[in-house]
Amino acid sequence: MILIAIETSCDESGICVIKDNRILSNLVYSQIDSHKKYGGVVPEIASREHSDKIAKLIIDSKIKKVDYVGFTRGPGLKGSLLIGKIAAMTISNYFDAKLIGINHLEGHLLSVEIKDDKIEKKLKFPLIALIISGGHSELWYVENYGKYSVMGSTRDDAVGEAFDKVAKILNLGYPGGPAIEKIASKSLRRNKIFSVPEVKDSFDYSFSGIKTQVAYYVRDNKVTLSKKKDICYSFQDSVSKSLIKKLKLAVEKYRVNNIVVCGGVIANSYIRNMIMETFPLNKFNVFLPQKNYSSDNAAMIGVSMLRAIEHNYEDESIEIEPDLKAGSNSEI
Ligand code: KG4
Ligand code: ZN
Repeated sequence: MILIAIETSCDESGICVIKDNRILSNLVYSQIDSHKKYGGVVPEIASREHSDKIAKLIIDSKIKKVDYVGFTRGPGLKGSLLIGKIAAMTISNYFDAKLIGINHLEGHLLSVEIKDDKIEKKLKFPLIALIISGGHSELWYVENYGKYSVMGSTRDDAVGEAFDKVAKILNLGYPGGPAIEKIASKSLRRNKIFSVPEVKDSFDYSFSGIKTQVAYYVRDNKVTLSKKKDICYSFQDSVSKSLIKKLKLAVEKYRVNNIVVCGGVIANSYIRNMIMETFPLNKFNVFLPQKNYSSDNAAMIGVSMLRAIEHNYEDESIEIEPDLKAGSNSEI
């Protein structure tokens, strides 16, 4: 069985070819250079870049036979999702392959089943998933493959978006996450400057407040290089504590010992370590994606296709479902 997966929800164009449980090729074209000067993703530029690059990626994948072709149908940027859908429909018509629409966040969730170029059915259910990316911060209760319910989500900025915006305030470039992590690791004082964000009596998150705390701090203080390191450290520490606090509450409420944390932000080693300290392996099954599969890629969409086929939910909608809140996160 040969599967082609296409991912175009935001600023990465990705195509993956999977045969049975093995990834034969996984190509990602990152648009970071085109968005860098704006300090965030500009939707119109993203869709233009996808349409410029997707055909070349399909050719480079050397596709000869396809049984199923899948694409990210949402959430994401409308124009970008449409380009992916059109590419998938074209492949589907040409090869007479079945078309499958995949939820991007399910893709992140199932990215934990990829080990190098192999896909392993290793998730244990029920589980609590924390999905942390540039566009989302969500807590899910997951009963089985394809059976998810959202327990909480962000009320304003997503966590990756907060990293990107704080990096912009500090002139650290885009994407902000890796830059903040690197500078934070050099902080010597490691003191608390910013409070831990919390939405009371809810599993929701909120990160625009801590972004504003940073903006005011930068406005009111002389920001030397060593101060910048401390700002990054305290920001990263408070955000990590906020993420883990609700995750822990969810795990306790549902009495599960299976946990997934996924999405671009889980490339962050500080957050990874805090998770492993909070949920020790002798008591919990903690599933994190390999760092190279944590940010957007088509392989994770391919895993979702495999599971959708195995668990009979491959006939779900192929309508695109853009993220209604998604706009330009280049604005602070
Ligand atoms: O999952 P992803 O590739 O795209 C979306 O679905 O949004 O996540 C991208 C986000 C960006 O906001 C980026 O700054 C953040 O992940 N990110 C990080 C790190 N690496 C990427 N955030 C914190 N620390 C990192 N090391
Ligand atoms: Zn993503």
